[in-house]
Amino acid sequence: MSQPNLRALAASVVIQVIDQGHSLSQALPKAQSKLRDARDKALLAEIAYGVMRQLPQLDTQLRRCLQKPLSGKKRIIHGLLLAGLYQLKHTRVGSHAVVAESVNACREIGAPGMTGLVNGVLRALDRDMDALQAEQFDAPSVHYRHPGWFIKRLQQAYPDQWAAILDANNEAPPLWLRNNALQQSRDAYLQQLADAGVEAVAGEEQEAIRLPKPRDVTGLPGFPKGAVSVQDHSAQISGRLLNAQPGERVLDACAAPGGKSCHILEQQPQLAELVALDVDPWRLTRVQQNLDRLGLTATLKCGDGTDPQSWWDGQAFDRILLDAPCSATGVIRRNPDSKWLRRDEDIAQLAELQGKILRACWQMLKPGGTLVYATCSVLPDENVQQIQAFLQNTPDAMLDPIVAGEDDTTPGWQLLPTVEGGDGFYYARLIKRQDGATQTA
Ligand SMILES: C[S@@+](CC[C@H](N)C(=O)[O-])C[C@H]1O[C@@H](n2cnc3c(N)ncnc32)[C@H](O)[C@@H]1O
Repeated sequence: MSQPNLRALAASVVIQVIDQGHSLSQALPKAQSKLRDARDKALLAEIAYGVMRQLPQLDTQLRRCLQKPLSGKKRIIHGLLLAGLYQLKHTRVGSHAVVAESVNACREIGAPGMTGLVNGVLRALDRDMDALQAEQFDAPSVHYRHPGWFIKRLQQAYPDQWAAILDANNEAPPLWLRNNALQQSRDAYLQQLADAGVEAVAGEEQEAIRLPKPRDVTGLPGFPKGAVSVQDHSAQISGRLLNAQPGERVLDACAAPGGKSCHILEQQPQLAELVALDVDPWRLTRVQQNLDRLGLTATLKCGDGTDPQSWWDGQAFDRILLDAPCSATGVIRRNPDSKWLRRDEDIAQLAELQGKILRACWQMLKPGGTLVYATCSVLPDENVQQIQAFLQNTPDAMLDPIVAGEDDTTPGWQLLPTVEGGDGFYYARLIKRQDGATQTA
């Protein structure tokens, strides 16, 4: 049976994201499942991710070539041309193949009348490639390939670093693994990788391993049996900060897909219980899959973190990790579609939800207990301002500093994304005062 044209699939994925508000994580796997060859699947992903990274520049250069914008039913052809221009500018696919395959895709899409336009536009763009590659763009949102509202927020929060953050977001990220210390030491696993011819380096976090080249992890030594997991370097810090001890009850309050729950269990196999809570039942099934692969056990609960009465048994927790739902603005390089899906007004709504979950979690924490608050955001509203307000309004909450210089006015540790390093993340650690302790204790 013949398989669908890869460029037609790419056009559909691009339009699903930019016009219909679907995420790449929804649209891409469905399209990939229609292709048999692993290399074709990888090329489709490269085109889809690449278009999202480069979108404003591709769009600007493409629109100049069109006499009339492609609207309505012709939007899919706009997606096809964006994918075509991306391949011409940023991949090694030969220009002849790009044009020929895009014209074939046009027929497959059911628009044979548009083949002339697709052929003509892509050929014209290809002829101009040197000029297109060298073009400088005046508008910051086109130059930096991020929405204007986000650039403004970054400029305000990071007057010296905003451009470096945007540049890092535009790069494809490294692949980070977390060694499973229950199965082998990191050094032993690095040796297994070297024996298998896989380039890898140790990271700063105890179990972190960086693979400079992206690859299918399922073929890594021992992966199916849980030797390692995929987890960014910055995300691996959470377990160390939580520092769970034998016999403790721990809540992972926003647990799915379970990366941090599994890490906590790998670091501390003698917990009394780890409760992994998430509001999304489908995402919770992914926690179970991850636990199964790693041979770990947790109590899974589907429930709303803002409303403990609906699922909590009333037994307080010694430690809570709250990896809150957030704007994910620290992981744009991993999810470049989020730049075009997220809206400025989402930030205040997310901050409100985070505050509600944080206050509810506080009720479930034992006096003397520790709560680690985390987001993969770089925006102060969700991070330092959130925790600052919480400390001000919660007399029994005390900051447990993670890094030098932290105090109640600048609580927490903001990590920014770097090209070879970890994602953008924020951590703050809070302790619940013991009964009778005063605020100044
Ligand atoms: C940043 S992700 C968590 C990632 C996870 N900690 C890990 O390391 O794999 C945030 C999670 O919060 C969940 N969530 C959103 N609102 C929630 C709520 N009100 N109560 C509980 N979980 C919620 C989402 O379904 C999502 O899975």
